[in-house]
Amino acid sequence: MEKKKLLEKLKEKILMEKLPLKETATNIVFGKGNPEARIMFIGEAPGRNEDLEGQPFVGAAGKQLDKLLNSIGLSIEDVYIANILKYRPPNNRNPNPEEIKAHTPYLVEQIKIIKPEIVCTLGNYATKFVLASFDVEGMKKIGGITYLHGKPVDKEINGLKFKVIPLYHPAAILYRPQLRNALEEDFRKIKELL
Ligand code: URA
Repeated sequence: MEKKKLLEKLKEKILMEKLPLKETATNIVFGKGNPEARIMFIGEAPGRNEDLEGQPFVGAAGKQLDKLLNSIGLSIEDVYIANILKYRPPNNRNPNPEEIKAHTPYLVEQIKIIKPEIVCTLGNYATKFVLASFDVEGMKKIGGITYLHGKPVDKEINGLKFKVIPLYHPAAILYRPQLRNALEEDFRKIKELL
């Protein structure tokens, strides 16, 4: 079955599940972009705008992400984007381990469908989850994004090999503009790897 169809089926399956945060959310935020992409981005959780529109990265962080992609000659059409959590946590609070445990099997399914060559993790939660080899308990043992960003790591899942590039979350440059240079530089590394 083609990737687009497999993703649609997976979204339908999630909609049938009673996941944590579903009750308080407006919409599921499943993923967007090109199912045939070589690069997949993984964010943290939907914010207010994403919850209202049912699409990831449509708010202020999304604008930053679009600009960063454009800076290396890419657009949303060249990548696929999904989050750790499929529903918005109230008031954008941090995801808790139970929520991550309940939601991430679907993210793992998305990765297996997309089969990306490069996985860019945005911020601490996505980075720790992927570098802990998709084990929520193992996340505690992974260092912070300040130390990990821009350093590619080889990972695999069920024999599917890919490079992980941990990145600062694009929202971080909104409140810490001094991170912009590091993020832009890390994006240039994605281009070199392609
Ligand atoms: N931040 C994220 O991590 N994901 C989104 O979808 C939007 C903002």
